[in-house]
Amino acid sequence: MKAGVLRSHGGNVYEAARQGRRRLDQIVDFSASINPLGPSPRAIQAVRAELSRIVHYPDPDCTELRKALADHWRLPPNRFMIGNGSSELIYLLPLALSIRRALVVGPTFSEYERAVAVAEGRMIRVQAGRREQYQPPIGKVARAVQRDRLNVDALFFCNPNSPTGSVVQADEVLELAVLASRQGAWVIVDETFGEYCNQATILPQIARLPRLLVLRSFTKFYALPALRIGYLAGPETLLRNLRDRQPPWSVNQVAQGAALAALQDATHARQSLAFMERERPRLARSLARLPGVAVFPSAANFLLLELPSGLSAAVCAKALRRQGLLIRDCSSVPGLNRRTVRVAVKLPGQNRRLVAALAGLLRR
Ligand SMILES: Cc1ncc(COP(=O)(O)O)c(C=O)c1O
Repeated sequence: MKAGVLRSHGGNVYEAARQGRRRLDQIVDFSASINPLGPSPRAIQAVRAELSRIVHYPDPDCTELRKALADHWRLPPNRFMIGNGSSELIYLLPLALSIRRALVVGPTFSEYERAVAVAEGRMIRVQAGRREQYQPPIGKVARAVQRDRLNVDALFFCNPNSPTGSVVQADEVLELAVLASRQGAWVIVDETFGEYCNQATILPQIARLPRLLVLRSFTKFYALPALRIGYLAGPETLLRNLRDRQPPWSVNQVAQGAALAALQDATHARQSLAFMERERPRLARSLARLPGVAVFPSAANFLLLELPSGLSAAVCAKALRRQGLLIRDCSSVPGLNRRTVRVAVKLPGQNRRLVAALAGLLRR
């Protein structure tokens, strides 16, 4: 594997607890963007019910969950493949598709680049700019996809994008997917945060475009990060190829049961969305009132911030960590500057605590 792709994620509460000599429940994790309302109560019930079945191997075909996804999306079950988190699928894709040269629209999630490097491929970046509030330059991406000289065989596009929060509407993503497909390139749209922005999803279009693949996860909106479960929607033949490369029993039964129950809990989903639509603008306003802090528009359950010139992301993250608050230092993400951080939108009291802690730091 080629070296050089930095790996840095949020969400390592165990390390933070060890280093800060705190209990896990004394840490507020703004660094991983998980639904602050937590998982559906039905998912928790399902976890308990599945415990009686842990003496058996899990269903290797994830039959019930794929059926439920088929109902949810009105597509056949063979259009879905389940993975040990969407991360497993991100890593299987470049190997199964023999990706040599991929295009990624950044600044974005680092694992696409790593996965392509693991498969001995090369990643080319088209970057969204700070001046455009990190809104992806769709025209530029379209031109790059069509440039014969670049000879791109896959396009990675995260929508809504992490860590910037930007979103591109479905018709524009579709246009891009059509262009890329015409060039013979695969289009991998990561909709891991897609539940927060349902109108922007391109998933139903997989039936129309044979080179379109859409990734989803039960980690973020469904708040099941520790269970490791996500899915890919795409053409049946490719999914079969991917499954041949997947380790056996990759997706455990507790995760399958919880995901199924979570998917079927429309009430919790509605409440989660309504909560985010109220709380995200509220937190954005409070943060924007802090002197010198810029808040970028977000369609997901997190906000990208730029700190004032005197305060680096690293110093800020370290200082907040001492208070038991974890935020994501984004300074290592190519295309973002050293003052950029990402914070999850959490419960109102937790968000107030974050704003107060940041205000304190800025007064120093
Ligand atoms: C954009 C994006 N895609 C995929 C993932 C992987 O999520 P999981 O493997 O938990 O499904 C993450 C996790 O941080 C992410 O931010």
